[in-house]
This record gives sequence, structure tokens and C-alpha cells, in this order.
Amino acid sequence: MRTPMMAGNWKMNKTIAEAVELARSIRAQVEGFSSVERVLCPAFVCLPAVAEALQGSTIALGAQNMHWADSGAYTGEVSGPMLQGLVSHVIIGHSERRQYFAETDETVNQKIHAALRHGLTPIVCVGESLAQNEAGETHEFVGGQVRAALAGLEAEQVQRIIIAYEPIWAIGTGKAATAEQAQAICGGTVRATLAELYGDPVAQQVRVLYGGSTNQNNIREIMEQPDIDGALIGGASLQADNYSNMVRIT
Ligand code: G3H
Repeated sequence: MRTPMMAGNWKMNKTIAEAVELARSIRAQVEGFSSVERVLCPAFVCLPAVAEALQGSTIALGAQNMHWADSGAYTGEVSGPMLQGLVSHVIIGHSERRQYFAETDETVNQKIHAALRHGLTPIVCVGESLAQNEAGETHEFVGGQVRAALAGLEAEQVQRIIIAYEPIWAIGTGKAATAEQAQAICGGTVRATLAELYGDPVAQQVRVLYGGSTNQNNIREIMEQPDIDGALIGGASLQADNYSNMVRIT
């Protein structure tokens, strides 16, 4: 069966000292909850210090982005070989990166290939805008993002990927999708597209997360949905108690 996952995306928040404090506090609360995969994704500069704070822990560490090339003249970027040994997971194609840093389906696909090449588990983000949602384009758009992200990947590689459905209109707005809405896209679009491309047995193995204004109050209902295997958590993951309660509830 699919192990549930609570992944915290700390985005551009927390200094190194604050990140260490948050990681320690979370560790103290959820170290023993190994039936839920817990992944913390601080900013790049915080990774070594948080890795140290999590040493010997069952809590995993993830990056928020990576470059597709192994090295080269890409000022400000971080590559797979640099992350290897430091993190186990990497968020790829978050809507904020697509929106503010011009990431495309093509670069997302290249980054996924690079992550897998370096033994990192990609958490691949997809999701529609409010306008697309209101125009009834969600299924087609998100399905297209999934297809584009996975281009050129073998079934064996796809099984190592995690997909996070994050409707842009729900991110940081306090307006989460309803559990039914989230289930409809996580199951009827993301997992259905995986099944179309790779067959049902493969699709059943891939974890699909929901992200967008999740917290300790709404996570139970979301986790009750059959095709939702966890959450990619923004704001609530910056609060040790809130995040830890989400892990406990799961
Ligand atoms: O990566 C996390 C998502 O963007 C969700 O953020 O929980 O603050 O809405 P949020």
C-alpha cells in the first residue's frame, strides 16, 4: 500500500537558526510517527544545518528546486550532484516557480529526469489557475501537465515519483479545495492519467498529494479520500504544532 506523506514546503521563510529550531521542534513531536513519511523542505542555505539537526532521524529532508544540468554556467542554481547525499527529495515545478521563474513543462520534465538520475525523489507539482478552474479546464490542463512532466520516463521511474496536485487558487489563500474537489482531480485526473500512460498497477503505486491551504483542521477529511496519499503543506508547516498535528491525524 501507499505510505502516507506529509511534506512541508517552507518556501522562502526562516533563517538558518530559525529553520534549525523549527526542525528540532518538529522532530521532538513526530520522530516516532514512522507510519507517515515526513519530509521537510527548507531553503537551500538552511539544508546543511537542518540536515545536522535531523541526523539519525526518521524525518527526511527535501530541496525546493534543482537545476536539470549537473554543472555549468547557471548563476544562482543548484544541481543534482550538489544535493545528492544532503537531501532525499526535491520539489519540482511548484506553481510559484512556474509563475515567477518561468518554469515550463519542458524544464519540469528535464528536472525530473535529473532528479531520478541522481537518486532523488521528485515531488512534482501540478495545478490549475482560478481562471482555468472557472472555465472548466482543470481536468484537461492538469492532465496535460502530468503527461508533459512524465515524458520519456519508464514505468519503473514513474513509480519513484510523487505528484502533488495544488490548485493555484488554494495556495496560501485559506481556501482549500473541498475534499471532494481534491479527490476528483487527484483520482479522476492525476491517477487516471497515470493509468492511461502506464497501466493501473503502476498508477496504484504512485503517491498523489494534495496541496493548498491544508492544516490541522481540514487534513482529516482530505486524507479520507481514496486517491489522496498526503499533503504538500506550505504555511501550516512553518508552525511545529500545526504540522505535527497533521502528522498525528494522518
Ligand atoms: O507547497 C505548498 C503549497 O504551495 C501550499 O501552500 O499550504 O500555504 O497553501 P499553503
